[in-house]
Amino acid sequence: MPQPGNAAQRVTKGDGEPGSLPASRTDRSISTGSVGPMCGIVGYVGPQDALAVVLEGLRRLEYRGYDSAGVAVRVADAADGALIWAKKAGKLANLEKVLAEQPLPAATLGLGHTRWATHGAPTDRNAHPHLSADGRVAVVHNGIIENFAALRAECEAAGVEFASETDTEVVAHLLAATYEQTPRREGRLAEAMRAVSRRLEGAFTLVATHAAEPDTLVGSRRNSPLVVGVGEGEYFLGSDVSAFIAHTRNALELGQDQVVELDRTRGVTVTDFVGTVVQPKAYTVDWDAAAAEKGGYDWFMLKEIAEQPRAVADTLLGRLGPRGELVLDEVRLSDQELRDVDKIFVVACGTAYNAGLIAKYAIEHWTRIPVEVELASEFRYRDPVLDRSTLVVVISQSGETMDTLMALRHAKDQKARVLAICNANGSTIPRESDAVLYTHAGPEVAVASTKGFLTQLVACYLVGLFLAQVRGVTFEDEVYAVVADLRRLPDAVAAVLERMDPVRELARSLAGEDKMLFLGRHVGYPVALEGALKLKELAYIHAEGFAAGELKHGPIAVIDHGTPVVVIVPSPRTRGSVHGKVVSNIQEVRARGARTIVIAEEGDDDVLPYADDLIRVPRTPTLLAPVVTTVPLQVLACEIAATRGLDVDQPRNLAKSVTVE
Ligand code: AGP
Repeated sequence: MPQPGNAAQRVTKGDGEPGSLPASRTDRSISTGSVGPMCGIVGYVGPQDALAVVLEGLRRLEYRGYDSAGVAVRVADAADGALIWAKKAGKLANLEKVLAEQPLPAATLGLGHTRWATHGAPTDRNAHPHLSADGRVAVVHNGIIENFAALRAECEAAGVEFASETDTEVVAHLLAATYEQTPRREGRLAEAMRAVSRRLEGAFTLVATHAAEPDTLVGSRRNSPLVVGVGEGEYFLGSDVSAFIAHTRNALELGQDQVVELDRTRGVTVTDFVGTVVQPKAYTVDWDAAAAEKGGYDWFMLKEIAEQPRAVADTLLGRLGPRGELVLDEVRLSDQELRDVDKIFVVACGTAYNAGLIAKYAIEHWTRIPVEVELASEFRYRDPVLDRSTLVVVISQSGETMDTLMALRHAKDQKARVLAICNANGSTIPRESDAVLYTHAGPEVAVASTKGFLTQLVACYLVGLFLAQVRGVTFEDEVYAVVADLRRLPDAVAAVLERMDPVRELARSLAGEDKMLFLGRHVGYPVALEGALKLKELAYIHAEGFAAGELKHGPIAVIDHGTPVVVIVPSPRTRGSVHGKVVSNIQEVRARGARTIVIAEEGDDDVLPYADDLIRVPRTPTLLAPVVTTVPLQVLACEIAATRGLDVDQPRNLAKSVTVE
């Protein structure tokens, strides 16, 4: 059986008796804990080399977690129905090395997993797939099975010895036993999967195979993502479509509490957990396969930064209807419901939350509706006041962030209307929302969000303008004027990107720092927060963003000789004297020894005497300025991290999609 350091193993038919749980194996220590809650899953059945397809899919999904990786394949012509697997702690490259040394035989069915661990060490033996004691069932899992302890006790009482510390393994044993108890007929494995799924509590995506079913792969999902790819005589499963876009663009959405059977003869069958057949929603993936590759850049993040002019333009494309109205992708809200909105909450996490903070300035300004911005992880626990006339805007690049999903569900329970701004088509958050506006950023692979953020800002602006228009507080020509400004943004972002060489040079001079501050005011304040977040997550430098006016209330004490302070300066055309106040703030920090790094628009010469380093950005209307001022901060963080020799795309301790609370 799989052991640490013994990666590639052959498993043959075991001694499990029909109708019983499999017989016991050798003693192993047992500890509680569950694993794999935000992992990447791939499944394939078809004529191609299954291992190659699965590994390629895992490569694209590795952003979801990189604590360990594993594969299992069903050997094509093995009379005894052998499953063979390999798994290894660490990045996918470790597993690939093992497979290069010990190649697996040809197979036409396979599944794979890349793991992000929460509890339980990221070891070989905790890596997925997990196998039943008789080696006839292999399972990969994303999520947490909350009642696994009771199920494990039940298996152990029946004599099963567990080989890992995971919650997942219990599914392998239950599925093997349930399969034996299921009558021999078409769809037997799916039937067993339904029976097992009904017993599970928590969040799970499961993909499984049984040695006796060489052409059948089954999947199951609850509160965790899984999409189906349909090719010519071949079928795919993936945590998201990037797992299979190199092979097919035809995808099927799986709903909540559904089981899918992929069979080379019978095709795709989707049912609920009881067995009622349901018609899955088909859609075409419009992401380019090449978009998921690095395209010649050293890092996905660099490529994604460079893609921002296109991503912003795509997010604007086709959004205005013939009457000047905003075209939402899916609206299950009437104009009257939107007119009735008397309060808006914007709810999100991390970078998406920072986008929400900027949205507040724009939406309140254009609609005069009060907007509150909330961290999704705090929202439902503080019992917010919501009712039918509350609009909750949830923002999520991945559409799978568990904190945001739970906030969304809480909002719906309170009868509020929910509008999602999301990048991943078919993901859970837009599916459960009343209306959806997709950002057309394309796949964002780097853990640090860049084009996701800029397109979220554009989507927020569009939502604000749409609401203003529906409620009649803005004339159509006013909306058009802002939309015309929005249309100039791709060129403005491109212009910023063309001047990034001095920023890269600046970054190299900052690589040895251990703290940095970011200051901004008005919409520049959330930009400061975003700049600090990027630097923390990528370069592991302690960084804080502050509202510049707050400086004198405490933070200024941390400024020391040489402390780098990045200041996002608002346009001199900003209402009131905000610009002048920020210029004063630069002087204050400089007087205390700070090294001032100033981001200011072209023509703003007031900053010249106080800027040790000056980064120019094109003149942009005040509310839209974050779309350009954020870009140098992304480049700065990326380049500092690269200079420090860090993994820019996969920073330590992080994962792209945080599907646990
Ligand atoms: C961004 O750089 C971060 N990695 C992270 O804060 C992210 O924005 C957050 O986890 C929310 O993700 P989502 O947009 O997919 O919901």
